[in-house]
Amino acid sequence: MSEPTSAQTIIVIGASSFIAQAFIEQACHQHAKQQQPNSPVAEPLQIITVSRQASIKLPVLTDSELAGRINHQHFRCDYQQASIEQCVSDIAKIAGTVTRIVMCNGILHSKNQHISTNEPGLMPEKRIEDIDAHSLEQLFYANSIVPMLWLSALTPLLSQPRHKVSAEQKCVISILSARVGSISDNRLGGWYGYRASKAALNMLIKTTAVEYARRLKRVKLIAFHPGTTDTPLSKPFQANVPQGKLFTPAFVASQLQQIMDNSEPDGEASYLDWQGEPINW
Ligand SMILES: NC(=O)c1ccc[n+]([C@@H]2O[C@H](COP(=O)([O-])OP(=O)(O)OC[C@H]3O[C@@H](n4cnc5c(N)ncnc54)[C@H](OP(=O)(O)O)[C@@H]3O)[C@@H](O)[C@H]2O)c1
Repeated sequence: MSEPTSAQTIIVIGASSFIAQAFIEQACHQHAKQQQPNSPVAEPLQIITVSRQASIKLPVLTDSELAGRINHQHFRCDYQQASIEQCVSDIAKIAGTVTRIVMCNGILHSKNQHISTNEPGLMPEKRIEDIDAHSLEQLFYANSIVPMLWLSALTPLLSQPRHKVSAEQKCVISILSARVGSISDNRLGGWYGYRASKAALNMLIKTTAVEYARRLKRVKLIAFHPGTTDTPLSKPFQANVPQGKLFTPAFVASQLQQIMDNSEPDGEASYLDWQGEPINW
């Protein structure tokens, strides 16, 4: 286990996500741009990744000096509550001041039969008869419960003097939601479980923001809709996406970076799309 650092820390949860990977790459390059080449006093950046995967690779940085100023630690997690709590306890031992958190967890479908239960894979419901209890449980667990367990476990860490941002700094937490989670925007119907689990996620984020307005005033919460992005999650549904509306993860990650940079803690959660435009809850 590494020693604690005084670096600014970015935590990326669900780091195997294509959007997460692109976000990490952008964060590394943005940090590179901000540094004076060969400056010995350059601020280090700490990137902490969490995933079900055993390892996550950071992009190769061309400047070997710069690579030394990015410090990466990875934690494997199965997203059960005990595992999340253990991860946060391990993160607390090594993290610096936490200024950014991105949570990318989400499922829409799974093709594979469940190994132990032989349950069929899940697909979004087209009609009400497609409702299936096990699929709903999986969707709510991955899309609503996992991000909330992380928020719950991370809140004490974000309050600790060693990790807490100062009054001049901010910590921005973006949680990947989806426009289909908007209750007021639901005109098409369908996708019951995915919609409802993202709507539940939005409510959990909004409720957390009410508490943060009292307890963590310098923390901003964002429920982020990336737009349809070319990742495994959207793959089976890309055929009807209008030309120019299927975004690359790199584009979405760059939009998210800018949105996080420009967001200020205001005591409220924001529900924003990839353009930074608010979505009605
Ligand atoms: N792609 C789109 O068009 C689109 C549109 C709207 C919203 N979104 C949202 O964007 C987020 C990122 O998705 P993506 O498009 O980058 O998809 P992706 O590449 O398929 O990534 C899937 C993500 O979900 C996590 N995950 C997979 N199975 C899980 C499970 N059973 N429990 C908990 N986490 C699980 C993965 O975490 P590990 O690192 O642990 O594997 C990874 O972070 C999701 O929340 C998604 O709902 C995507």
